[in-house]
Amino acid sequence: MTTSTQYDLRDEGRRVMDQMKQQPNPVVEARQLMSQTIMAHVLLGLSDAGFYEYVAGKDAFSMGEAAAALKFDRFTFEAMVEYLLGCGALVRQGASDTFALTDKGKRLFNVYTRGVLNVYLGGYNAVLRSLGKVVAGELPLNDGSLRRSTRHAAAGTAYSTCAFTIPDVFAAMRGTRGKVCLDLGCGTGDFLLQWVLQAPDARGIGVDMSGAALRQARETAQAWGVADRLEFHEAAVGPGPLVVPQGALDTVEMVTSMYMLHEFGRDGREAIVDVVRALKTQLPGRHLLALEVEACDPEAFAAQTPPAAHFGRLDYRLIHQLSGQGLPRGQEDWHGIFRDAGCTIVEPGKPTGGSLIYIAGM
Ligand SMILES: C[S@@+](CC[C@H](N)C(=O)[O-])C[C@H]1O[C@@H](n2cnc3c(N)ncnc32)[C@H](O)[C@@H]1O
Repeated sequence: MTTSTQYDLRDEGRRVMDQMKQQPNPVVEARQLMSQTIMAHVLLGLSDAGFYEYVAGKDAFSMGEAAAALKFDRFTFEAMVEYLLGCGALVRQGASDTFALTDKGKRLFNVYTRGVLNVYLGGYNAVLRSLGKVVAGELPLNDGSLRRSTRHAAAGTAYSTCAFTIPDVFAAMRGTRGKVCLDLGCGTGDFLLQWVLQAPDARGIGVDMSGAALRQARETAQAWGVADRLEFHEAAVGPGPLVVPQGALDTVEMVTSMYMLHEFGRDGREAIVDVVRALKTQLPGRHLLALEVEACDPEAFAAQTPPAAHFGRLDYRLIHQLSGQGLPRGQEDWHGIFRDAGCTIVEPGKPTGGSLIYIAGM
């Protein structure tokens, strides 16, 4: 770590004073950066502890009642509430211990915000807070302690896609065929759950290699009373046929894959082609809908006019690099992959947020 033995703090201080004569003010920027970081931790902490579920649907909450119901440490909870009060996310009602969410608070507590916090801060917290050690070569990037929190990443993806991404996927699926959907890399099954809830005759078959995610998916299907229309199989998607119980895929009319195909790209482009070719061999004639985040070239990203409103695509790219997942690919690249696998392009890439919906005819 650098110390003041290596540089003259008086010179450093003068540099800040010089910068402060210009706009934007670097002191304000530094404070904003830190406040956003602290706010993100406060919000994720409340999410982890079940506070969002507690306030959902309520216009206001009593701090005492909430702390008792959730068995919170009263001192910590009060400190967090006071912080959010100061940030303008909460407003006190009269002189009581009752607080209501302001419009700002409602935005900070919405499902999309929760989703993004869960994916990045929750899912990849270990690697993000260890970057110093990793870049210094003291901890290898593939160290087990840096593994992502799958619980956060899965919940976060479901939360952040339910607002506009999944409705856009459903709209794209309307032009395709059938009611029986095979979702590859289904994770905790949230996409298929939404699929069967939106039409009484819809059915879903989910495949994932994570047994833990599938256990959660089955529980959720039970809880929503749709277990008779959803089935889940533990299997690895790969360059060979999917190994699932005999007959399990007989009724499949369409195939979806949300944010998974790019992962095979860590072994090169051809690895994705091989997987798509294997799917075409096993499920000929079906449409394959793939949802993938847009590619992001950092220099082109920085040169955009007007500048991007946020760094979402850069965040996704960095996290994919750090977690050994394949990088997001461009539209042309995906078209080439589908064609090389023998598919036709049915939907060349419908934008939804920072993602694109592709449909390939197998
Ligand atoms: C980024 S998550 C996306 C989950 C879900 N589709 C969604 O959008 O919320 C990728 C999922 O693919 C699964 N997965 C990755 N490679 C796989 C493979 N070869 N076979 C089966 N599942 C795989 C992971 O276990 C994980 O659940």
